[in-house]
Amino acid sequence: MDRGAFFSIAIRQTRYIQCDLAWAIRSDLVKVIVADKFERVGLEGLAGLGFEVLSQPGIGTDELAKHLASQNAEVLVVRSTKVPASVIEKSGSLRLIVRAGAGVDNIDVGAATAKGIKVCNCPGMNAVAVAELAMGLLLCCDRRIPDQTFELRAGRWNKKEFGKTGAAGARGLKGMTLGVVGVGAIGQEVIRRATAFGMQVVAWSRGITPQHAAALNAEFGGTDTPALLALANRSDAISVHLPLADTTKKLFNKTFFDAMKPGAYFVNTSRGGIVDEAALREAIQTKGIRAGLDVYEFQPSEAEAGFESPTPKLPGVYGTHHSGASTEQAQLAVAHETVRIVKVFHETGRFENCVNA
Ligand code: MLT
Repeated sequence: MDRGAFFSIAIRQTRYIQCDLAWAIRSDLVKVIVADKFERVGLEGLAGLGFEVLSQPGIGTDELAKHLASQNAEVLVVRSTKVPASVIEKSGSLRLIVRAGAGVDNIDVGAATAKGIKVCNCPGMNAVAVAELAMGLLLCCDRRIPDQTFELRAGRWNKKEFGKTGAAGARGLKGMTLGVVGVGAIGQEVIRRATAFGMQVVAWSRGITPQHAAALNAEFGGTDTPALLALANRSDAISVHLPLADTTKKLFNKTFFDAMKPGAYFVNTSRGGIVDEAALREAIQTKGIRAGLDVYEFQPSEAEAGFESPTPKLPGVYGTHHSGASTEQAQLAVAHETVRIVKVFHETGRFENCVNA
C-alpha cells in the first residue's frame, strides 16, 4: 500500500490518525479503532476526547483481529464489519465495542460478555432514515417506479404498461391496511408516515399493548404467532422492523407468506436473516407478492462486492443495498451518539445504551 496515501493530521490538542494501523504513531493515548466508514465529525469528536483514533474503513474481520491485539485498543467502533468470537478472543485490552447503528447482530455479544467487554449501540438515531426508505420501497411496490425508470433509460415510453391499475398495476396506498411488525423507533416512524398517507395501520409486536397501539394511532395487532399470521392474512402491505435474534430468525417463513393476501406487498428494511428467502421467492412467483427489500439473507458485509442472489433479481422485487440508514442526517446523528457514548465511558466509566450490561 502506498504510504503517501496515509496521513496524520493534528486536530485541536490531540491526534486523529488516518493510516495503516501497523504504521500508526505509537503513543500512550487510549486507542479507538474505527473499523468502518464513519463521519468525519465523529472521528474528530473522538480525537477531541483525547483518544488516538485509528480510522480503518474496510479493514475486514481478519485484519481487525490482528490490529486489536497489536494496538491494544480499548474502544472499537463498527458499522458493518463483523466482530465474531474469534476477534473478541484476541482483542487484548478492548473494553467497549460501539455499534454505530441500532442492530448488534454483526457482533458476537455473548463472546464479548464472556470477556467482560461491553457492547453499546445507537438506537433511534437512524430511525427516520430507515422509515423513509421503507415508505419509498412501499411506493415502489405499488407504482413500480424502478421498472418505469429502466424503460425510460432504455428509450421506451410505456404508459400502456405503467398506466395499468389494480392487481396488474398500481392500487394506491390510501385506505390500504398496513401491518407494521415491530414498534421500536423505526416502526413508530413508519406508522407516522403511513398514517399521513391515509393507510390504516395495524401494529404487532411481542410487547405491544392495546393502549400503546392506540397511542401510536394504530390498531392493536397482537403479540403472538397466531396474531402475526392473522395480521399477514388481513394486510394489503406489511413492513417489518425487528432485530435479528434467535426468536426472529426466519420468522417470515412459508407459513407466514402462505397467510398473506395474494398480491400484497412485503417490505423488509430490518435484517435479511429474519426472512426465509426461498419461501418469499415462492410467494412472489406463485401469488404475486411484491417485495421491497433493503436487506438479504446472504448479503455481503463489505461495502462493495459481487452479489449474485436470486431474490433481488426477481420481477416484483424492489431492492436497495442495506442503505436504509445511509442519509447524512442519520449518519451525523449516529456519529454524535457514538462520541457521546465513548465520552461518558471515558469520563465516568458508565456504559450508555449497553446491550450486555
Ligand atoms: C442499523 O442497525 O442501525 C442499520 O442497519 C445500520 C447501518 O446500515 O449502518
